[in-house]
Amino acid sequence: MTSTVPESPHALHESLQGVKSRVLTPALVIDLSAAAHNIGAMQRRVSGTPAVWRPHIKTVKQARVIRELLAAGVQRFKCATLPELRLLDTLARDHTGHDPLDILLAYPTTAAARASLDNTPLHPKSRVSLLADSPSHLRELTRWSQQSQSAWGVFFDVDVGMHRTGTPPAGWSAPELLTALPPGLTFRGLHGYDGHHRSTDRALAHSAYNSLVELARSLGLQRTHAVITSGTHSYEHALSHEALGAGQWQQEVSPGTIVLSDLRSAPAAEQLGLRQAVFVATRVVSVGAGRVTLDAGSKGLNPDVRPPHAQLLGWPDLTLGTPSEEHLPVTGPDDALPGLGELVWIVPAHACTTVNMYNDALYLRDGAYAGTGPVDAAGHPLWVEGTDG
Ligand SMILES: Cc1ncc(COP(=O)(O)O)c(C=O)c1O
Repeated sequence: MTSTVPESPHALHESLQGVKSRVLTPALVIDLSAAAHNIGAMQRRVSGTPAVWRPHIKTVKQARVIRELLAAGVQRFKCATLPELRLLDTLARDHTGHDPLDILLAYPTTAAARASLDNTPLHPKSRVSLLADSPSHLRELTRWSQQSQSAWGVFFDVDVGMHRTGTPPAGWSAPELLTALPPGLTFRGLHGYDGHHRSTDRALAHSAYNSLVELARSLGLQRTHAVITSGTHSYEHALSHEALGAGQWQQEVSPGTIVLSDLRSAPAAEQLGLRQAVFVATRVVSVGAGRVTLDAGSKGLNPDVRPPHAQLLGWPDLTLGTPSEEHLPVTGPDDALPGLGELVWIVPAHACTTVNMYNDALYLRDGAYAGTGPVDAAGHPLWVEGTDG
């Protein structure tokens, strides 16, 4: 399969007819038809495998896109921040499925974060699990859960070589870690995120999964438990690891970027035949000799990536320069440059950090303007919920 980053911005231009002159740039534009296509592509990829897809919603952060996931039948989600968790919890209220939404806050919680969780109870249609970063963090969670009014799930976060969070497999192997859990804290399984593996690192990924499988077996994981691994760059490794999918437990993979796709997910986009669903619309704000400058700098377009930062749609002769905060210089032959004020469409290298910088998104569906909506879970709140500073 090949990815479908459009070669020409023509269809995008057409879809904004009628509103283009009112759109301030830089603007975050999401093609909901493309997102729905990508969701279907991932669901087809896991159908016929033992694995279930638990998308991470840190990429999209928007109710409108999460509703596409819900409409497609996705019921398990990962999130990283409290606003993402609250967004999922709000959407759970309208969830008509038999089981509650299964939400994993896949980030180690601090005491302040847990106070927020306590102060604003979650809806009964949300079943929320937390990560235990280490056995001592698990003891902290245990003490807290004994006073919490709600019931929680817990996954042991296993460091499978990324050295970011979690504890290596040997640190989780003591059976008393399970038997000491109180009734309000239910063991749900293992979480081993391998974000350091590229799509070419199959052997490395498989050796990490071997140790995860060994741990899952030694802890006696059952049908009610899950072993969760992998984002966009390594889910194929996980799906091809036989023992991960052959245990008593439920295998899960959690790519999230594939919902929108970006330049960095090109291998997954090719494997799944993804369509590009996120764009930044920019305008030319300055013209010089052999140079124009677009209005999407590092405050409008993935500040965390090294070049190439983006792809310009329909301008093959132009070369991206180094972005500064509000400026993206682009060079090329004078007769091949866009004119002052011209709209230029950009595909970001990293969708997640691009989306997070916008308050609102403009939506397209079936090649036409389909309204706007907030990026509900962008940014970080300041105060513990219910304490108002
Ligand atoms: C814990 C965790 N799970 C899943 C993902 C999803 O990965 P991706 O954005 O590559 O789809 C991430 C990404 O950072 C993550 O940190």
